[in-house]
Amino acid sequence: MRVVVLVSGTGSNLQALLDAAASPDYGVEIVAVGSDRPGVLGLERAETAGIPTFVVGLKEFESREEWDAALTAAVAEYEPELVVLAGFMKLVGERFLSAYGGRTVNTHPALSPSFPGAHGAADALAYGVKITGATLFVVDAGVDTGVIISQVAVPVQDDDDVESLHERIKVVERQMLVDSVGRIAREGLVVSGRRAAFGR
Ligand code: GAR
Repeated sequence: MRVVVLVSGTGSNLQALLDAAASPDYGVEIVAVGSDRPGVLGLERAETAGIPTFVVGLKEFESREEWDAALTAAVAEYEPELVVLAGFMKLVGERFLSAYGGRTVNTHPALSPSFPGAHGAADALAYGVKITGATLFVVDAGVDTGVIISQVAVPVQDDDDVESLHERIKVVERQMLVDSVGRIAREGLVVSGRRAAFGR
């Protein structure tokens, strides 16, 4: 399955996918990595792995719609069957969703529908929940509201700060992402209303 991965930062989730995709049995070919920010470690990781990269920065465009159209066109050049948002910190727009809706997934560091947005780990810690985690979902027009594909739970420890909690979430998040993207490639994904299951 041809996959484009979009990142905005460190790219540790991307790295986990790159490592898994090195094995042909995994069933995924990462055909390109894109970012909204130049110079991020995620892009460097892709270059090290010999994967083509592209950057579509929001500031280069007069409107969000133009940016969204350019992002859609950049992704389309690589003809992906699935787009994975792995720490991509921008909301995709209407044009992107009309091209890739239903075949774009995103990973979020909280148990949806709790704590959507850019600060999932911090918001869970501030609220005082005892269990949080990570969620993989099919991207829709909302903020982290799409149909849930997989979730993993992570207990909050009394001495956690945002960094320690997010790092522990990311360990299980990477595994969940690798497992789920591989299963989508090999088995397919069926969505019925709000429910998703692997299979055809
Ligand atoms: C991940 O924890 C991902 O869930 C989060 O950013 C981190 C990226 O880490 N994304 C969001 O918060 C999106 N709402 P990485 O760059 O090391 O893969």
